[in-house]
Amino acid sequence: MIQSTRRPFLWGVSTSAFQIEGHVKNDITDWESLGRFRTKTEDPIYNQGADHWNRWEDDFALLKELQINSYRFSVEWARIEPQRGRFDQSALDQYSRMVDRLLELGIKPMLTLHHFTHPTWFHEQTPWHSPASVEAFARFTEKVVDRIGDRVPLFVTINEPMVWLLAGYLDAKFPPGHRDVHLLADALYNMLAAHVRAYDIIKSKNPHCEVGIANNFIVFKSAHKWNPLDKKIKRLIHSFYNMCIVDAFRDNAVRIKFPFIMDYHKPIALDDKLDFWGVNYYYRMHVRFKLSLKYPFELFFRDRSGSGFTDLGWEIYARGLGKVLQWLAPTGKPLYVTENGIATQDDAKRLQYMTQHLSILEESIRTNPQLRGYYYWSLIDNYEWLVGYKARFGLYEVDYENGLQRTLRPSGRFFADYIRNLNNTRAET
Ligand code: FCB
Repeated sequence: MIQSTRRPFLWGVSTSAFQIEGHVKNDITDWESLGRFRTKTEDPIYNQGADHWNRWEDDFALLKELQINSYRFSVEWARIEPQRGRFDQSALDQYSRMVDRLLELGIKPMLTLHHFTHPTWFHEQTPWHSPASVEAFARFTEKVVDRIGDRVPLFVTINEPMVWLLAGYLDAKFPPGHRDVHLLADALYNMLAAHVRAYDIIKSKNPHCEVGIANNFIVFKSAHKWNPLDKKIKRLIHSFYNMCIVDAFRDNAVRIKFPFIMDYHKPIALDDKLDFWGVNYYYRMHVRFKLSLKYPFELFFRDRSGSGFTDLGWEIYARGLGKVLQWLAPTGKPLYVTENGIATQDDAKRLQYMTQHLSILEESIRTNPQLRGYYYWSLIDNYEWLVGYKARFGLYEVDYENGLQRTLRPSGRFFADYIRNLNNTRAET
């Protein structure tokens, strides 16, 4: 057997704290009690979630069953700093035990510091559009890193900044519920500044670990090939949604340019403080120009590739994954697919989705040596933002009516076999 010197490709699954842990009070649960999401009333088990906070040891056994060698998860800021400046040691201790256990199991932790949620005090006292947010995030990061940073080889500072900003500062769907592009730009700027602070803090504790940002990427396609306005608006949306943060690292400046709406340009010393790009890829969207000053476009899903839609109405478009990875190749950075998955009640559809996406992934691995890992979203069924528990993303089903029992789906078995086969093939060469 020839011992390979290449670093092993990371095969994993991805989760986030709030979506599986249960038993927490944060900005989202406050938002729900104000009736701002419909999900709370629909879900009597809301506060319990999938109860991962109590069942994490059993859930980690599921990771092992899946054959994976890495696990992406997040810490819940509201649990760690329930009051501003007051840190809960016991929560940090539990996260520390979780990291230890993963290492014992031979599973590399990839830890996300910010995955959409905040402590209840955050938006009032240190909102993202104020520079105070950078300090607040730095202090939280310091506490986490002091406790577990020495044992975590991969950090994501912020998950999908753009998705969160659009929901919190443009669509008013997430707290703090603004509809203001100028505040959004300031908040984006501060989030990137917070990333840099966190990068320095993490590296000072653990110089060898890798620190990145996970972005959500959407393949946009103009609705009508013949319409130059559709094309133009598509390009604008692409450069804002997909490339704004990537370009900020290239240019050391945040630039948002949308004719008649805004032209924001502000230098920022990002200084290449980013070791990898995390790629969260789910779907393609079609874009149509619309005569309106406020939103001069419409976005919609269409089943152009014939692969159908997910239960959330998203177009299944596997080739998009390859495209997104190609967009990022010129950055020269290592790439991890940090999320990719499907909400469906029909597991055969999930299996088909996986086969299609894994085949595109294999192509990308062959052509891009910078591609280092793939994390399936998600380990178990969980709470989906704005939707609740009916979206089923898990490789394990969670039976909410029967004691939250976890059951491996055929698609999960397929993923485990897929990884096992790869490992066997590698061992034979
Ligand atoms: C992503 C989020 C993740 C999950 C998936 C379905 O945008 O990062 O938490 O909800 O969508």
